[in-house]
Amino acid sequence: MKDIYILGIESSCDETSISIVKNGCCEISTVTSSQIDIHKTYGGVVPEIASRHHIKNVTIVLEECLKKANMTMDDITAIAVTYGPGLIGSLLIGLTAAKTLSFIYNKPLVPVHHIAGHIYANNLVKPLNFPLLALVVSGGHTELIKMEKHYDFKKLGGTLDDAIGECYDKVARVIGLEYPGGPKLDKISKEGKDTYKLPIPLNDDSYNFSFSGLKSAVINLAHNEEQRGNEIRKEDLACSFQKAAIGSIIKKTRLAIHNENIKSLIVAGGVAANNYLREQIEKLGQEENIEISFPPIKYCTDNAAMIAAAGYFSYKEGRIEDLYLNAKSNDKLC
Ligand code: KG4
Ligand code: ZN
Repeated sequence: MKDIYILGIESSCDETSISIVKNGCCEISTVTSSQIDIHKTYGGVVPEIASRHHIKNVTIVLEECLKKANMTMDDITAIAVTYGPGLIGSLLIGLTAAKTLSFIYNKPLVPVHHIAGHIYANNLVKPLNFPLLALVVSGGHTELIKMEKHYDFKKLGGTLDDAIGECYDKVARVIGLEYPGGPKLDKISKEGKDTYKLPIPLNDDSYNFSFSGLKSAVINLAHNEEQRGNEIRKEDLACSFQKAAIGSIIKKTRLAIHNENIKSLIVAGGVAANNYLREQIEKLGQEENIEISFPPIKYCTDNAAMIAAAGYFSYKEGRIEDLYLNAKSNDKLC
């Protein structure tokens, strides 16, 4: 069978990333230009600045990616691109680049949902094993998705308000950690103890999550302590927050494993890089005697290798779009 080389393009937030992946599983080359240092000054991503940097970076990233792979556009089978969800201005840059390449080189244009990309990051490690449960934990999403076969997504539940990554970043900011605070909070919590009493988020038997109450509780606690002239023990608060947030994720994931016929559990999205979550999922896998998979850290946060991997399966399903394909800032995977 002829090898299929997908060129993936990801620009939904503040990373301009382009990758070439063979047959949906083998990464040939990936080049990512991150804007973290630029947005750090503002405490979060500024959409207008992000799109301007995507414009500046996209052709350079493409050239570097092809050079690293020692390939030309003639070697590429199809072009996969994140069409949504994400920041509209950012998405449009990647999408316009993909459409232009598709038009000039006469290559099929394959649309990829950003969350399908995060899920398929796991296929770069080992083939997905169905029926599976995907725990999606990112800056914009917190969802439990069941898959019976490739490109077949069924949402079991999700957050009713804030996404887990968003909550990590807000809590981190309140305790004085620089953007993006999630990884920093993860790091300092290792030196802390679970001493702060925080509410257990949405402690019911649904597959849904809720993090806004927990976030408000941390903000109120920090403000109250400040008004009393007390210093917060950052490490302890980070530790207590992680226990409450991840505890709720583990509870709902365990429930879905029990009730659905699940063979394997995969974790996807930026928060899949979290050490405490990884530890707890490993434990859950052993307790429930179920296969588990995490992407390596480099495939957890936004990257184009995951888009190219998902793009391969989307392409095999015959999902090809014409040049009228538009970006969608909000779009459901299922
Ligand atoms: O998947 P991603 O790169 O972007 C979205 O699609 O949203 O996820 C980014 C999110 C940010 O909120 C970031 O703080 C969080 O992932 N994150 C972490 C860790 N690494 C990244 N959160 C907690 N612990 C980490 N180690
Ligand atoms: Zn993402």
